[in-house]
Amino acid sequence: MEKVKILKNQRLSERIYLLEIAAKGRLLEVNPGQFVKIKFPDFRYDPLFPRPFTVHSFQNQVLKILYQVVGKGTLALSKLSEGEEIFVFGPLGKPYPEKIDFPLGLCAGGVGIAGFGFFLERLPENLQKRIFLYYGARTSSELVRLDYFSKFPIELKLATEDGSAGKKGYITELLEEDLKEEKIKILLACGPMPMLKVVKELSEKYGIKAYLSLETFMACGTGFCKGCVIKARKGGYFHLCEEGPTLLASEVIF
Ligand SMILES: Cc1cc2nc3c(=O)[nH]c(=O)nc-3n(C[C@H](O)[C@H](O)[C@H](O)COP(=O)(O)OP(=O)(O)OC[C@H]3O[C@@H](n4cnc5c(N)ncnc54)[C@H](O)[C@@H]3O)c2cc1C
Ligand code: FES
Repeated sequence: MEKVKILKNQRLSERIYLLEIAAKGRLLEVNPGQFVKIKFPDFRYDPLFPRPFTVHSFQNQVLKILYQVVGKGTLALSKLSEGEEIFVFGPLGKPYPEKIDFPLGLCAGGVGIAGFGFFLERLPENLQKRIFLYYGARTSSELVRLDYFSKFPIELKLATEDGSAGKKGYITELLEEDLKEEKIKILLACGPMPMLKVVKELSEKYGIKAYLSLETFMACGTGFCKGCVIKARKGGYFHLCEEGPTLLASEVIF
């Protein structure tokens, strides 16, 4: 576990923040799709367990986390300022699959967008041009980091449930329009479980491969506690912290 300095902890919308830390030690080995666990120094017993977060961006040894405040841990994190120190453990989990076809559809719901930044940063420009990024949220203020994502030569498609930005409705509706036109060969999705279920159904309906970045409660993050299981189609369970968090949709049962 590395003790690292906070460089910035910026509020982007009502509940979404961008944390920047100076990475060091093993953290420098992180790859897109992997996650880290953050322990808050003042919270020795509650929250007891470090919280898991996907790496959103990693450039010039600055590691960024895009996070949403949902409970005690993330609220505590949102109150930390530049210069304060936190404990960061990782990298954990498996990176996104290496062999991936293009054109690739990235489908993100809310802060599920986080990991796709780092993924795009590591992709050569000729492949970035073959990315469709579908990004949905409840309302326009929750569509964060648009300036950052707009700098990549990708096709960015937006949807909000209230129609305040992009298409009104769910992002999976936009995705289905392009699947019908056979624009995409493969999918990688991250977001709330209802969205992931629809992505899984769409991949089956249109006969394409889909990878899902899944979330469960993760106590240890290292394969010890067996608390992060998700049902496997072949029988038994996947341990998301070690075998995931990204798994083939066809191999899991929700
Ligand atoms: C591999 C992985 C990567 C993640 N990456 C990110 C990220 O990049 N950005 C981000 O904002 N969040 C991410 N999360 C979710 C994040 O870890 C949780 O939101 C966080 O642990 C909540 O901690 P808390 O103490 O604030 O909330 P808690 O007090 O622990 O929980 C508050 C509420 O949130 C619910 N909750 C807690 N964890 C989750 C979860 N995993 N999924 C759904 N509901 C949950 C609880 O059931 C409870 O209702 C990730 C989770 C995993 C497993
Ligand atoms: S979080 Fe403990 S085994 Fe996965």
